[in-house]
Formats: sequence, structure tokens, C-alpha cells
Amino acid sequence: MAFDTIVKGGMIVTAADRYIADIGIKDGRITALAAELSGADELIDASGLLVLPGGIDSHVHLSQPSSDASVMADDFESGTRSAAAGGTTTVLAFALQKKGQSLREAVAEYHAQADGKCHVDVSFHLIISDPTPQVLGQELPALIEAGYSSFKVFMTYDDLVLNDRQLLEVFAVAGAHGATVMVHAEGYDAIRFLSEKLEREGHVAPYYHALSRPEIVEREATHRAISHAEITGIPIVIVHVSGREALEQIRWARARGLKVSAETCPQYITLTADDLRDLNMGFEGAKYVCSPPPRDAESQAAIWQGLVDGTLELFSSDHCPFFFQDEDGRGKDTPKARTSFRWVPNGIPGVETRLAILFSEGVSKGRISLEKFVALTATNHARTYGLYPRKGTIAVGSDADLVLWDPNRKETIRQETLHHGSDYTPWEGFEVTGWPIATMLRGSVVMENGQVLNRPGNGHYLTRYTSSAQATANVDWSKALSADTNQSSITG
Ligand code: URP
Ligand code: ZN
Ligand code: ZN
Ligand code: ZN
Repeated sequence: MAFDTIVKGGMIVTAADRYIADIGIKDGRITALAAELSGADELIDASGLLVLPGGIDSHVHLSQPSSDASVMADDFESGTRSAAAGGTTTVLAFALQKKGQSLREAVAEYHAQADGKCHVDVSFHLIISDPTPQVLGQELPALIEAGYSSFKVFMTYDDLVLNDRQLLEVFAVAGAHGATVMVHAEGYDAIRFLSEKLEREGHVAPYYHALSRPEIVEREATHRAISHAEITGIPIVIVHVSGREALEQIRWARARGLKVSAETCPQYITLTADDLRDLNMGFEGAKYVCSPPPRDAESQAAIWQGLVDGTLELFSSDHCPFFFQDEDGRGKDTPKARTSFRWVPNGIPGVETRLAILFSEGVSKGRISLEKFVALTATNHARTYGLYPRKGTIAVGSDADLVLWDPNRKETIRQETLHHGSDYTPWEGFEVTGWPIATMLRGSVVMENGQVLNRPGNGHYLTRYTSSAQATANVDWSKALSADTNQSSITG
């Protein structure tokens, strides 16, 4: 047979165009796109459906330890199961360096957790928390060369924050080796100052989390990160941009010709700080505690403007799942967290609902085009993080990672039908138009009608090329598409 599988008659959408065609798949790759294909072991009827590149979620936290008793509600198995259910076929998770730990140990630890357990393809961004001379001089350059071509740095959190000197040193290494740096831009000292003031005033409920890190705190850190990027001459990605103030800084940087990319997330177009208020004198607001916190209607409008005009290029989940209530005290609602918002674990689950929320709020409501949706949820992630064109598009030679999408299907998001490990979703009862019907990973169906086929281990680990390789116009396509150079089995 010419093909293993043909996906017939769907409306193919890429970041650039849309057209009705058949997709021929052989050995996990797309080998033909044509009006009419035949000769396959398996036919999948996609008529009446959209066929989109599998979602790429480039900001997902799985199995990350916390400094307190809280435990992440998803490991690599459940987190990638949830991704597959929502139409996402590549997850970029984090390998967190603990203080005093070598980067190599950190990477080995996360491989041990992920290898053989993933339902979709995965890759790791490093989190640099301890930039020792050994890390900066040897480990980081070696790992970048080995395909760990991006890492995240934090400007806040007790156990992660880097000072300005450390940020500059880390940025310089990224520049020398072509890595992409993601920056969590919120200012540590300002947050501490405001948090302690709120606590002294007795303002300890979850809602005050939002007041302890207002937009100015994000704006200041965003500006500082941009300045450090200019000093060291590197491109950066400002992650989880929450509102208008940080956006202004990003536009200012771009106008200066700086290479600053920016990401936003479902929470910043659908939630506001008011969701953190515990109106029933309860603790429900903790379900929405994430950082940066959701803002207000004006900032939501600004985020939409940024998505439409291209200031925001990446739409990720920042999936950071905790339990709400948990008998063993591992979740958000603990006696300690009830003494202050400061002890509520930061983060919300969202890897499964990301695509449906943006499709519904964006495409179905007429704010963005289908092509823009694909760019924001897949193509731009592959380009930014060294996976394009193998991932992130529908083209001959690319992996057959596809989502069959019903643009008219109405669904209500409910915890009971989701696949993640958390015991709640921040979007309980949220109504959407547009829903994934099936997910294909390298030519195999991994989700159909909400059922994830139970094959953890289908997912491969992806090594990625660097931003400098990416920035040159003449990316070597044969290399970018080659299984041997760009993919290693996660069981390796
Ligand atoms: O609240 C959040 N976003 N927690 C996840 C960690 C991070 O900063 O991305
Ligand atoms: Zn962050
Ligand atoms: Zn995050
Ligand atoms: Zn491995």
C-alpha cells in the first residue's frame, strides 16, 4: 500500500492557508497532500471537519516538586493523557534544577519520570535556579548542544529567583550558544513588600494574592528583563503575559528592534481577579490562584488586541495542576494556606481545555481567523522552540500529528469529563463552540470521541535545534525533518 492511513476530505488549516484535501500518511509522516488519494490500509473520514496540526503546548508543568507540602496533580502519564484528549500532540514540560543540583542530574530525573509514560511527544525546557560557574561554563552549553535548546528563568519565588547579575550571566550563555530564554517576569522584592503589608493588615484571603502582584510588578520586571536582553543582545520570550502594562513594554521593545516574543494563556482572556474573591466566605478563590494573577476586563481586551496584532505569538496553557482539596494536605486548601494567600500553591490546570477555549472565544466569536488559531496554538511554538517544520504544520515531510476538529460542536467544560489529575477545573460550566473529535500522533489515533487510547509510551522525547539555527533563513529542512537527528525514543 502507498499509505498506512489516508485522512479523507477534511478542511486542512495551517498558519498560512486552508483547503480541502486528502492527507496520505506513511510511517508516521505526511507523504502526500492531494485532492484525491487512494491505496491505504486505513481510511479516516474527515468530511465536515477541520484538520489542524496537533496542538503544541510549550508551557506545561508536570511532576515538579514544590518547596512546601503541595504535590503536582499530574505526572507525565496523566498530563500527556489530558493533552491528547484536548487535541495537543506535543508538550514542552520543564526539567527543574533544584538548588545545589547539577543540570545533568535534573535532566536525568525528568527523563526517568517521562520515559515510556507519555501519550504525546514531549521535550523539556530547563529551569535554571542555581547558575554556578560549573552550570554556566560547562553543563548548560553541553545541554543546549544536545538539544535542550531553551530554558526558563524566574524573577520571583524564594527557591527560583535569580538576581540581576545572575540573569545577565545566564542570558550571556544563551546568546553564546543560541538557546531561547523564557522569562517569568514578576519582581520578587515588590511582591514580598506588598505581601507582608497585606498580611499585617489582615488581608490573607486568596483574593489578596492578586493584590500582592499587581500589573506594575509585572511591568517593572518585564522592562528589566527586556533591558537585560538588550545588554546581552539575546532574544527572549516573556511568558504568561497577563495584561496591558506588560504588553506596553513588549511593544516598546519591539519598536526598538529587540527580539522579544510573548506568550499568553487562557486564564488571561477568560478569568479576572474577581474570580479569586471568596464570596461565600469559603476558600473557592484559591482555585484561580496563579501567577501572574488574572486581571480585569480592560486587560482581557488588551490581551485580545495583542493576539490579533501579533504582539502575542504564543498561546500556552501554563498547566500547573494542583489538587483543590486533598486528604493528605497536598493541595491548595490546607490549614496553612487558610492563614495566608502566600501559602496557596500557584498554578491552575489547563492543558486539556486550552484549544477549545481559544477556538471558542477567538474563532467562533469572530475575533481571530482559523489560520491565526493554528499559528497561536501550534506553528509559532514549533518555530520558537526548534521543532519546525517537523512539528506545527501540515506539510509533506512533517509528522502526521493532527486534530480532527468539529467547529460547530457545543460542549460544556466539566471536571467529570476531563482527563487531568486535578480534582477541579477553573472552567467548570464554561460553554464552548468547537471541540476536538480525534487526535493523531505520528499517524496513530491516540484520542477518539473523548476516549484516550491507553497506550502511554507512544510519546517520544524530542530533541530540538537552537534559536540561532532557527533564525538563519536557510534552515536545513532535511535535517529538521530527519528522525535520526531530531527525535530519540523516550525510552532511550
Ligand atoms: O502560577 C503559576 N503560573 N505557576 C506555574 C509556575 C510558573 O510560574 O509558570
Ligand atoms: Zn512562570
Ligand atoms: Zn508556568
Ligand atoms: Zn531518556
